Amino acid sequence: MAKRTIVAMPGDGIGKPVLDETIRVLEAAGFEADYITADIGWEFWCEEGNPLPQRTIDLIEKHKIALFGAITSKPKDAAFDELAPELKEKGLVYSSPIVGLRQHFGLDICMRPCKSYVGNPLNFIRRGQGNTIEEPEVDTVIFRQNTEGLYGGVEWSAPDGIVYDGLMTHPKFIKNFGKVPKEELSVSTRIFTKNATERILRAAFEHAKKYNYKSVTVCEKPNVIRETSGMMYKMAMEIQKADYPEIELWNTNIDAQMMWLTKNPETYGVLVAGNMFGDIVSDGFAGLIGGLGFACSAQFNPETGIGVFEPTHGSAPKYADYETSIVNPIAMVASACMMLDFIDENEIASKIRKAVADVIADGEVKTYDMMKMRGRANVVENGAASTTQMADAIIAKLK
Ligand code: NAI
Ligand code: MG
Repeated sequence: MAKRTIVAMPGDGIGKPVLDETIRVLEAAGFEADYITADIGWEFWCEEGNPLPQRTIDLIEKHKIALFGAITSKPKDAAFDELAPELKEKGLVYSSPIVGLRQHFGLDICMRPCKSYVGNPLNFIRRGQGNTIEEPEVDTVIFRQNTEGLYGGVEWSAPDGIVYDGLMTHPKFIKNFGKVPKEELSVSTRIFTKNATERILRAAFEHAKKYNYKSVTVCEKPNVIRETSGMMYKMAMEIQKADYPEIELWNTNIDAQMMWLTKNPETYGVLVAGNMFGDIVSDGFAGLIGGLGFACSAQFNPETGIGVFEPTHGSAPKYADYETSIVNPIAMVASACMMLDFIDENEIASKIRKAVADVIADGEVKTYDMMKMRGRANVVENGAASTTQMADAIIAKLK
């Protein structure tokens, strides 16, 4: 097979060390690819006024598969302050390049598996009957709609003109907000489309079927958010009845789900939600399996074959400038394994996953988070593995 080209987007902060180490692991595992480094993030906002330059979009369009580290996003005013002086007059507005990428390429399926590793000292434990300590085995895969909903970007402050007039046609708006001065209103919409909702639901059911999960849980709030959450649940019922009768369909509310995930996380198999609730619930489950150092994520468009694979964590700016990087590369390595699955390099993916699992089970090499230390430059002196040492340990286990 022709050698692949992978677009490597380190982005900001700790994105770079985790991506560098992950590429080293991929190479050691025998994955043959060329990597083209592509520009994304804060630096390009400050220098060019665009955190997602067109040349990066072109590279992804051409090569289809990208690994992404993390970016830094800052509030509106800070974004303006840090813009190069000659760009300040241009009326540029910062928006997150990763959200932009998702929308540009229609990467509407976001998949976030949360599976506990045996021996991870960060695994969730709870008290069982007779005061025993239980460590439930978590194996939940969250499917998050990645392009619409509350992160769709359709929002206004001080809505005016036909927007305000449109809002005033809704009886609930008139009753609850009709007397509020326009300048005191901020409105963010939550738009779901049938097409995208069906795609995320079907992706969730297909995954459950392929990997023998017994249930799919729609995690929304249909009793209150009747139109969008309601539509998602109704469509899930139709799809399950017509095409997946062997899989159980459960319906939970996001708030209750956040409580249940610490009571009985082992109950849940595949979970599906809109953009924001998917974001929330996937962080919740990630917390049960070790937190951000372990939380991986894939986002893709099944029709175009374009996929971007990234850890759930951000750029952790406070650790960005350490001479020796201390952060855990496992989330990025696990995201790269999802990339390998996506391009049918399953054997190499399994090999890397087994090496990661073996390192964790051995318990000899642990990054600072796994030792429950506070992140400081001296953690390596105190026995924690650096980012590079963790990658070395994974490489040593590859067979
Ligand atoms: P963050 O995920 O960067 O860091 C939160 C904390 O989690 C860190 O301080 C650290 O204690 C821990 N952590 C994160 N990654 C870790 C790793 N690999 N190993 C060990 N510990 C780790 O989130 P935060 O601080 O809320 O945001 C920082 C910046 O990142 C912001 O500018 C934010 O906008 C951006 N961000 C970017 C994301 C992306 O690129 N997809 C996602 C989330 C935040
Ligand atoms: Mg998040």
